[in-house]
This record gives sequence, structure tokens and C-alpha cells, in this order.
Amino acid sequence: MQSLIIVGGTRLEGTLAASGSKNAALPILAATLLTGETCQLGRVPQLRDVSTMLTLLSSLGVQVVSAEPNCVSVDSGAATQINAPYDLVKTMRASILVLGPLLARFGRAEVSFPGGCAIGSRPVDLHISALEAMGANIVTDGGYLIASAKNGLSGVDFRFGTVTVGGTENAMMAAALARGDTILRNAAREPEIVDLANFLNQMGAKVSGQGTDTIRITGVSALGGCAYSVMPDRIEAGTYLVAAAATRGRVRVDGISGALLGVVLDKLRECGATINEGEDWVELDMEGKRPRAVDIVTAPFPGFPTDMQAQFTALNTVAEGRARVTETIFENRLMQAREMKRMGANIVIEADTAITAGKAVLQGAPVMASDLRASASLIIAGLVADGETRIDRIYHIDRGYEDIEGKLQTLGANIRRIDA
Ligand code: UD1
Repeated sequence: MQSLIIVGGTRLEGTLAASGSKNAALPILAATLLTGETCQLGRVPQLRDVSTMLTLLSSLGVQVVSAEPNCVSVDSGAATQINAPYDLVKTMRASILVLGPLLARFGRAEVSFPGGCAIGSRPVDLHISALEAMGANIVTDGGYLIASAKNGLSGVDFRFGTVTVGGTENAMMAAALARGDTILRNAAREPEIVDLANFLNQMGAKVSGQGTDTIRITGVSALGGCAYSVMPDRIEAGTYLVAAAATRGRVRVDGISGALLGVVLDKLRECGATINEGEDWVELDMEGKRPRAVDIVTAPFPGFPTDMQAQFTALNTVAEGRARVTETIFENRLMQAREMKRMGANIVIEADTAITAGKAVLQGAPVMASDLRASASLIIAGLVADGETRIDRIYHIDRGYEDIEGKLQTLGANIRRIDA
């Protein structure tokens, strides 16, 4: 098991490059199952979740070749298996994203039923309803979702009862090879949905309306291979900008446009940061000032992303003033609070809200990561704490941040990885 050791107190200064988006790369990799031809993917981040998805694809018979870092060639021509096993699904819920593509291409899929996870119960009922509406028959047996569509899938007019990113992705991928037209209403509007739709269109699919709440897909009989570069990771970029704000520093992230960060940049401005942007870069400058605490309520895009909630909670613990951070997407996603308290943070949880009264400084302490974004928030807390913070269970952070200690080191942070 590895740990991160951080000695806090350094202002982050410098420039780094945004990695490819985890939340776009995973569905795009799953979508390669829709074709028997080769897809060449660029800007694929080197992350544990990505290697888990590649392992899953390989176990289905897909040929995966990575000749150089961040480039993956995926050939699903020889895919024969339709079973996503428990051992892989339990380590990554996004494995459920192979359900739609397998069903659409092979008329059959068996995917281990994803259970709850640390941040909440995270049901998949809407993924199932959308696929059933397209004509799939789905039952559970021995902990597996067994899906079949003997006569193929048919287009459908389907309305999601709740906005679901994964559900929209699964339905969109299945509809790409279904007979006729599909309309997905109350669809998720996240930029990663747009990236997946663009990838599908590059493969020859007919998807329109991505980025709005109504996505239209005209099914085609086959999709082909293509070359595609995954979008930059807005959550990773946002995490470094928040770390810069918390340490009163100045950081520029290259390779991403400010438009992708949207409301996150608005909140950073509200904190007192100066934000400068170019077509392909964003810079945050705190001019050495202490940030002001900001209230946040998470919501589906274009609202404030749940994946940035923990990082802003960490920022609020060292900012000036009191603030409320309310999590509306997942029922158990304020777990970072307990560990932050161990670092001296003044933080109280009331139902779905973290209430903070900012302190000028936290104290370093041994803490434990509980999920991906909670780990990022502990790193931010460690960067502003007096003395040494040791973060255990950092496999959570390796799921979603490429070379986080390397990137922070280039910004001047005192952080290192140790084998515990
Ligand atoms: C969610 C986030 C996404 C984030 C990802 C990883 C939203 C809307 N989605 O995507 O931004 O990147 O976590 O942290 O912010 N739900 C159901 N039934 C379903 C599917 C979902 O009730 O079949 C509910 C969930 O319990 C949750 C909400 O819908 O309350 C949104 O979930 P969903 O978008 O599907 O989760 P992810 O795809 O994991």
C-alpha cells in the first residue's frame, strides 16, 4: 500500500498540462465495443480506472495496444465474450457502461450487478429501463444482469425520471445501433456526454442534440473504426485551480478552455481569485490573498459538479468566513469532513450539508482517503496545513488523477509517494 506525504505551506506557482478526461475516456472505451474495426484513441489518461476498463475489454476478447503513453488502439473485431465479471465491476462501477454496447452489437450481455459504493447507493434502474424500452429483456441472476435482445434493439422515445450521466451514455450507445430513431429526454448535458456523442458520430453514428436535454439518435446498421482524441479533464483542471486558490498561489492549466469549467470558475472568482483565460488555457491568481468561503449546491450540468464538491469544502475550511456546501447528487459524499476535522478543520455536517467556519491554517495529520474526490480534497488540505500530512489508501486517487504528485511537484508542492 502506498501513501502520500505532504508538507504544507507552499504557495502553488506554475503551469501544468490538463490530462485527458477520465469520465469521457471510460464511456468512449466502452463504445469501441460497438464496432468490429479499430479505434485509435488519443489523450487517454493513464489511470487505474482506465486500466480496469482496458482489462475488462481484453477479457471480452478485444485487442488493446498502447504503443505510446496516452494513445490506445482498440480492436474489438475479435470480441467474443459478453460477460463483465464481478471482480472487475466491483472495483469500478463504470464497468456498467459495457452493457449497452454489448447488447447492441451482440444481442446479449452479462454484467455483474454493481452494488452501492462508498459515496452512495448509486442504482442503475434507469440504465435498465432505457434498454428495456428499446426491446431488451433484462433479468438478474446470481448477482448478474443478464440482458438479451434476440431481435435487436429498436428506437424509442424515452424520458429519464432523473438526470443520469451513466444512464444517458448507456442508452445513447445502444441506440446508435438500434433500428430506427431514439429520442432521449431529460438527458444529461455534461460535456463528457458531448464527447461521447462526438466519438460515436466519428464512428458513423447519427447523434444530435448532445449538450441539450434532448438527444436524438438515428440507428445505423454498423459503425466503423476512427481516430479520436479524448477531451481534457475539467475536474482535474478544477482540482489544481482550487489547490492554487487554497494556497494563495498562481497556477495556469494548459490544454483546456475556461468554457469547460463554467460555474467552477464563477465560484473561484467569488472566492476572490483573478481568472485569466485564453482559447486553450486557464490561469488562476490569488495574488497572495486568503480566499473567501463560498456556498455551493451540487447539481447536474450546467450546475455545480458533484465531482468538485469535496475540493471546495477543503478550500472553505481555510477560507475567510462561513459557508455551506450542499451535496444533492449522492447521499454519502461528505466523508472528507471527518478526516478534515482531524486536521483541525471547523466543519459540521447537517444532513446533506457541510457547514464550515474557515481557519487561517490547518494542522498536518495522518488521514485516510475514502473515495476519489475526497482524496483530492485531503491533498488540498495537506497543502495548506502546518507540518506533515500523510494520506493513506491513495489507490482511490490513482483511479482518477494522472501523476498527481508529479504535477503538484512542478507547482512547487512538497509532496512525495511512499511505500507504506
Ligand atoms: C455521477 C455524476 C457525474 C460524475 C460521476 C462520478 C451527475 C448528474 N452525475 O455520474 O457528474 O462525474 O457521478 O462522480 O452529477 N440514478 C438513479 N438511477 C439510475 C442512475 C442514477 O436513480 O439508474 C441517480 C443516482 O443515484 C444519482 C443521480 O441519479 O442520484 C445521478 O447519477 P448518475 O449521473 O447516473 O451517476 P454517474 O453516471 O455515476
